[in-house]
Amino acid sequence: MAGTSLLWISLLSLMSCTTNQVTLNLSPNRSQFFRGDSVSLSCEDEDSSAGWTLRRNTTRETRRVCGLDWGKGSGSSCTIDPLIQWDSGVYWCESSQAAASQSINLTVPGGSVILQSPVLPVMEGDPLTLSCRSKHGSRLPAAFYKDGSLMGTEPGGHMTILHVSRSDEGLYRCNISSHGESPSSWISVTAVEARYLAAVTADQEDKLTDGKQSKELV
Ligand SMILES: *[C@@H]1O[C@H](CO)[C@@H](O)[C@H](O)[C@H]1NC(C)=O
Ligand SMILES: *[C@@H]1O[C@H](CO)[C@@H](O)[C@H](O)[C@H]1NC(C)=O
Ligand SMILES: *[C@@H]1O[C@H](CO)[C@@H](O)[C@H](O)[C@H]1NC(C)=O
Ligand SMILES: *[C@@H]1O[C@H](CO)[C@@H](O)[C@H](O)[C@H]1NC(C)=O
Repeated sequence: MAGTSLLWISLLSLMSCTTNQVTLNLSPNRSQFFRGDSVSLSCEDEDSSAGWTLRRNTTRETRRVCGLDWGKGSGSSCTIDPLIQWDSGVYWCESSQAAASQSINLTVPGGSVILQSPVLPVMEGDPLTLSCRSKHGSRLPAAFYKDGSLMGTEPGGHMTILHVSRSDEGLYRCNISSHGESPSSWISVTAVEARYLAAVTADQEDKLTDGKQSKELV
């Protein structure tokens, strides 16, 4: 009985740490944009309760608030249309208790070439598609680089890694002859163990009426 109470106490304290999970959603969900493109960002909370504020740091300003200082929308969701170079920066959601979501780097280069790559981590074993696009022309041959080394030149301007592994994690950029080079974007790969744990946690969450789960039970 005493053991059960102790379990509940530790479960409750863990639950208070895991509440207020928030996700920063980005649509379209990539990290590089042409000037003139538009993008929508929003903070999405499991409980849809706590008031989240979408903020950004750019080279010019820090902790600027969505809807007030930049973009069109409320504090927790904004659309930027059109994007300009100065919208490049790091974006995140923050609660009044200073809890924060993962942050996302958004890049709007001065040049006319972008690398389209996933903004969220890719699961190990999943496919990864990289596209190199120029503002002035489609499906042009492009060279792809990882961590500064040439991976290869693709006639159609896109490259697919069928099953990503941890070693594919890194800094990617691309290049289109006579059009220029894209900025670099970091691509992270989530290990399969993490996916397994997430599945187990989700499964156990379903069995708890509260919908919250402590990692200790996994
Ligand atoms: C991101 O976009 C790709 C293709 O545009 C889509 O397949 C994927 O489900 C999206 N991911 C999220 C988390 O929205
Ligand atoms: C934003 O800028 C502030 C002030 O320089 C800094 O403390 C904070 O860590 C930055 N946030 C992110 C997510 O980079
Ligand atoms: C965002 O960009 C900064 C500076 O280029 C880098 O240090 C950081 O790791 C990037 N973060 C993500 C999530 O890619
Ligand atoms: C990369 O870009 C440079 C100039 O921006 C160009 O001279 C070179 O040919 C390009 N390489 C490829 C493979 O596109």
